[in-house]
Order: sequence, then C-alpha cells, then structure tokens
Amino acid sequence: MKFTKILALVLAVVMCFGILAACGTKPAEDPANDANETADAPANDDAKVFKMGTNAAFPPYEYKEGEEFVGIDIEIATAIAEKLGGTLEVVDMEFDSIITAVNQGEVDFGMAGMTVNEERLLEVNFSSSYATGVQSVIVAEDSGIASIDDLAGKKIGVQLGTTGDIYATDDYGAEFVTQYGKGADAVIALKGGDVDAVIIDNEPAKAFVAENEGLTVLDTEYAVEDYAIAVKKDNTDLLDDINEALEALTADGTIDTIIAKYIKAE
Ligand code: ARG
Repeated sequence: MKFTKILALVLAVVMCFGILAACGTKPAEDPANDANETADAPANDDAKVFKMGTNAAFPPYEYKEGEEFVGIDIEIATAIAEKLGGTLEVVDMEFDSIITAVNQGEVDFGMAGMTVNEERLLEVNFSSSYATGVQSVIVAEDSGIASIDDLAGKKIGVQLGTTGDIYATDDYGAEFVTQYGKGADAVIALKGGDVDAVIIDNEPAKAFVAENEGLTVLDTEYAVEDYAIAVKKDNTDLLDDINEALEALTADGTIDTIIAKYIKAE
C-alpha cells in the first residue's frame, strides 16, 4: 500500500514536471510568422527593418498626412528598404538630432532633405546625392525686400541647425537670426511680423507659401545644395548597399517618378 502510494506520488510529480516543461517551453520561433507582422515584408526570415531618422515637417520631402508619413524621402527610403529585402520604419525627431541618432545607432540612416556639407562630413558619411536643394528666401509680398542684399540688418527666421541657419548666421550675424524648431514655425513668425524673412529650402518654401496668403518666395538662389542620406561612418556596408539601391532606382526611373509625383514641373 505504502509503496503504491509513493509510486503514485512519484509518478504524479514526474507527470507534473513533464506538463510544466511542456507548458513552459515557448514554441520554436517560426520565421514564417514574421512575415505576418508586416504585411508587405518579403517572406524572408532575415527581412530587416531599416530605421530612418527624419524631421517630418518638411514638405514635400517628409511630412505627415494624418498619422501617415509621406513625401519624396519617405518613398525613396521605402524603395531602398525594399531593394535591400527589408521594410522601412520612420523615426520622427528634431532635425538637429538626426546625425546624433545615426551615430548612436538609434536609426540606421538619416534622410531629411539633408544637405551634404563639410561639417556634417566630419561626423557621418553621405550616400550619393538623390536630389538638389536650393536655399530660398520667403518674405511678405509687401516687404520691399527684393534680393539677398536687402536682407542686411533684417530679422531672419530659420530652422535650427539647417544650412539656412548656418549661412544666415555667417552672412548676416547671429543677432539677426532667430532659430525655430520647425520651418513652419519660422513661417508663422514671418506672418506675425516677428521676422522679416525666412531662409529655407526652395520646395518647402513653395509649400509653405502656398498655404499662407500674403507671402512670396524671392526669385533668387541663395545656395544650391545636394541632398543625400547620412550613414554612420563605420557602417560602410550599409552605405554601399544604399548607393547600389539608389543607382538601380535612378536607372529604372523610380526616383524621377517619385520626385515628379510631389514636385510639379513649372
Ligand atoms: N537642407 C537643409 C539642411 O540640410 C534643411 C533640411 C531640413 N530638413 C527637415 N526635414 N527639416 O540643413
């Protein structure tokens, strides 16, 4: 009797462990399941999610339509991610945080209508250029400001950390320059008379003027620049992959199609 009781107990304990073990073990990860999480991801177990650091307040390159990120850079980056067998995740942040985010590995690359310049080249590598940008000047229609020279002694609004900020500060002096977190905020300041002009990239300038009555973009090119994708210096594999993807997307007309969708020829 006693023996059978003990045996039963032992059996019960063994069975319990068996059940616990069975219940405690997570089913082996099924790579095929990953594809269900992101509907468009290729059914590929090493599909990578590429994180793009940007500042989505810069139409037509990156901006939000409701909750959705749209624009030239978003679409080009999506096409690059797809070419590289992955998907894109947009990480929205302040423009002047993007290079730091790239270098700290918070994002894989930075793409934000970002101009290639000497200072930034000390911190990151840039892909080949995918677009041209032009620094432009927005003024009130009745301002009397007709050229770059008329800006001397005037109050100038810029987006913090942009090339417009750098040039305006160099050319006119920091005391004349007010830095705003977003280009749109500089434009609001211009409308409110807090600044006399806004220096910003040409396409966003046109977009902001289209939305705000009484403003105009001067017919001058303050600076002509190249936009490119910023990658961490030691991440040369990704830089090469991005450049290859860009080359293919240029050759097959994808880049032109995306740009033409957002920038109508005049
Ligand atoms: N092209 C300018 C620069 O690189 C302005 C870019 C601002 N981009 C943005 N997404 N806010 O400094």
